[in-house]
Parts: sequence; structure tokens; C-alpha cells
Amino acid sequence: MIEQFDVVDLIHTKRDRGILSTDQINWMIDAYTRGYIADEQMSAMTMAIYLNGMERSEIRDLTLAMVATGERLDFSGLSKKTTDKHSTGGVGDKITLPLAPLVASFGVAVPQLSGRGLGHTGGTLDKLESIPGWRAHLSTEEFYSQLDAVGAVVCAASADLAPADGKLYALRDITGTVESIPLIASSIMSKKIAEGTAALVLDVKFGSGAFMKDPARSRELAETMVRLGTDAGVATVALLTNMNVPLGLAIGNANEVRESVEVLAGGGPADVIELTLALAREMLALAGQPDADVEAALADGRAMDTWRRMISAQGGDPSAALPTPRESHVVLAPSSGVLVSQEALPFGVAAWRLGAGRARQQDPVQHAAGIDLHAKPGDLVTAGQPLFTLHTDEPARFDRALEVLEGAYTIGSVGDSVDDGGPLILDRVTA
Ligand code: URA
Repeated sequence: MIEQFDVVDLIHTKRDRGILSTDQINWMIDAYTRGYIADEQMSAMTMAIYLNGMERSEIRDLTLAMVATGERLDFSGLSKKTTDKHSTGGVGDKITLPLAPLVASFGVAVPQLSGRGLGHTGGTLDKLESIPGWRAHLSTEEFYSQLDAVGAVVCAASADLAPADGKLYALRDITGTVESIPLIASSIMSKKIAEGTAALVLDVKFGSGAFMKDPARSRELAETMVRLGTDAGVATVALLTNMNVPLGLAIGNANEVRESVEVLAGGGPADVIELTLALAREMLALAGQPDADVEAALADGRAMDTWRRMISAQGGDPSAALPTPRESHVVLAPSSGVLVSQEALPFGVAAWRLGAGRARQQDPVQHAAGIDLHAKPGDLVTAGQPLFTLHTDEPARFDRALEVLEGAYTIGSVGDSVDDGGPLILDRVTA
């Protein structure tokens, strides 16, 4: 086969701040996926993109070229409208768990193809797998039939959805080229466009526990993704949300499921409820229900009923006891005052070191590992009261978790300003 382009020419173009054409990008992504372009050549290309950026047309072409490398799901036969949510990832971010059944309780389909955690951000599938019997892998028939009958499905994405992204993401991960807006935006949106949802709400995070620390950069990422979705015919909006402090009081797997069930039962921490309701309103508005009373569906048990059906449909027992850790270690407040800071990133890394997350994609996670927080920034604390509890099945992990938590929280005096990075929802980005 005669190749259409020379990859070295394309690398030169991007290195010298030129613009790649649609044909060049289509060829490059196809040739990389079939193994013609070598990893070292693609690493040079991703580094050139990381350093020099891409034009809007190039980001669109890159996204669509990645979509074209795999299958594209089609929900046109479904009797319900489809709407989905994607979060760029954070610490204690369990929002998908209460959100998918809440939105589905309004007769809308939520096809959530999720991933596993890598590094300090948790994975939705890892959390749900702490429910005895629950299965992440569904056949195509099971997926469509659950979507029709229950409305909400949270399951593993097939390897055939934008396979170019899987290969490219693994390469970026080991070449220092993850934090590039064109590369993140095309990676996320290629999977969501291939997934076939008609509408999409993006939860784009900024702050200590997020990919993008700086709100201005996360806004740029949100605007890029909203444009990509809209151009591809997916009704897309984004919320810019604060990830300076952990979300809710639970960071881990089973404990995050427990907290999500509390929200579905009408309780739970205020920030988890606020974000769940805000995202549900956006998803339902895009699905043609702008006036849906989402609070009522949490309060009257409709969302909980859908949760139970969603878990049972995938083999899980929603009434079963969740795993408990073999060992716990309580950290006490060293002085009295106000908790003025609680930084998301070290808490995420500590939960990961306790065994809640994985360092390599193939590693198992401990379902009962993680951290339960007993106070949030702004709370009054008394010397000697529990501040947070670490859980693990392997006590040898406590030291490394405690090490990263040194300096991760501060107790100040009443009246000191609280360092929580501002409001939970900073802004809304539309096309
Ligand atoms: N999540 C993705 O799927 N891709 C990225 O590049 C970053 C986060």
C-alpha cells in the first residue's frame, strides 16, 4: 500500500507552527491506529501539539478522525431521548451514581459508558464494583435493553469506541503530553460522539484536584469541548466546577457508593446534592424537560427506585452490605478552631495510596479503601475530635498516605478566611 503522506513532513509542519489539513489528520490517525506510524513519531507529534496548540479546524478534524477509527452507537431506535454527562475527573467525584438514576427517573435514557480510575482520580466502575454481584461489562443487547427498560446504564465502554484514543492516551500518559487542551478535548469528545448520545453535559473541573488547576484554562477546555460537541450535532453545555476541596465526605469506592445512596435517600452532603441537582437540571433541559422538579424526584424516592433497578439489572444486590476495611486509622484535630483548608489533591493521592486507586491499568483496587472526612472547610473543630479516617486492607499503606497529607489541611482561628477556592459552580458555558 502506498501511503498518502510522510509522517516526518507532518511532524515538521506542526513543529514549525503550521496547520495540518483534514486529509493529513485523517491519514495520521488512521495510520497510527493500524501501526504504520511508530510510537516515537506520534510522541514527537503530540509534543509539537502540546507546545504549539492546534487551530479550531484541526481539533475538529482530530476528534472526528478518532471517532472514525471505531464503531459509533446509534440510539435512533430507542423510544427515549438520550442525554449524558462527562466529568473531567476529581477527588470524591461520585456524582454519576446519584445523577444517572435521577435523570432516568424522568423517562430519559442515560447511556453512561465509564472508565476506571488511574492515578488520584477515582473511576466510576471501580466504585460500582464494590456492590456485590454488580457487573461492569454488558453485551450490546443487554445495554440497549436496559436503556429501554430502566433508562440508566453505567457500564464499561467497548474497546471499539474510538480505539485511536485508547492508543494515543496511553502514549500521552508516558510522554508528558496529557495536559494539552486540543488533546484532552479531542480525547473526551471523540468517545462521547462515538457513544451516540444526543445531548451532553460536561462537568469541567478546575483547582487542586483537577487536570486544569487554573479556572481560565478549564474555561478554554470547556469552550473547546462545547464547540466540538455542537459542531458534531450533540447538544452540549458545560459547567465549570470547583475541585479545590474534595467533593462530599467520602473518597474511595464503597464509601462513595454509601454516600451516593444517602443522596438518593434525600440526605447526603450539601455540595454533592448541589452538583447532582445542577447537572440533572442541565441534562433534562437538553432532553426537553427544562422545568423538571429534580428535588422532588430525590425526596419522594423515584430516583432511588431507578437506582435499585439499575443496580439489579447489572447483577448487583442494592440491599447487600458493602465491603468494610480490615484496618482504619483516625486522625484527630491537633487544636481547636476552624478548618480553613482541605486540599483536594493530597487527599486524592492518599486514598490512592491506601489502595482505592491503581498505578497501572491492570492493577486491582481495594473496594473498602479510602478516606472518610469528618469536617469540611468552614466547620468548627475541637482539639482531639476526629478530622478524618483512613481505611485500607493493608496497614503498611498508612504511612505513605499520612505522609502526603502533611500540610494538606489547616486549622485556623474563628474569623480567618476559608480557603475553599470559591463557589462550587463558577460558570456555565454554552455554544
Ligand atoms: N480524560 C480523557 O478521556 N482524555 C484525556 O485526555 C483526559 C481525560
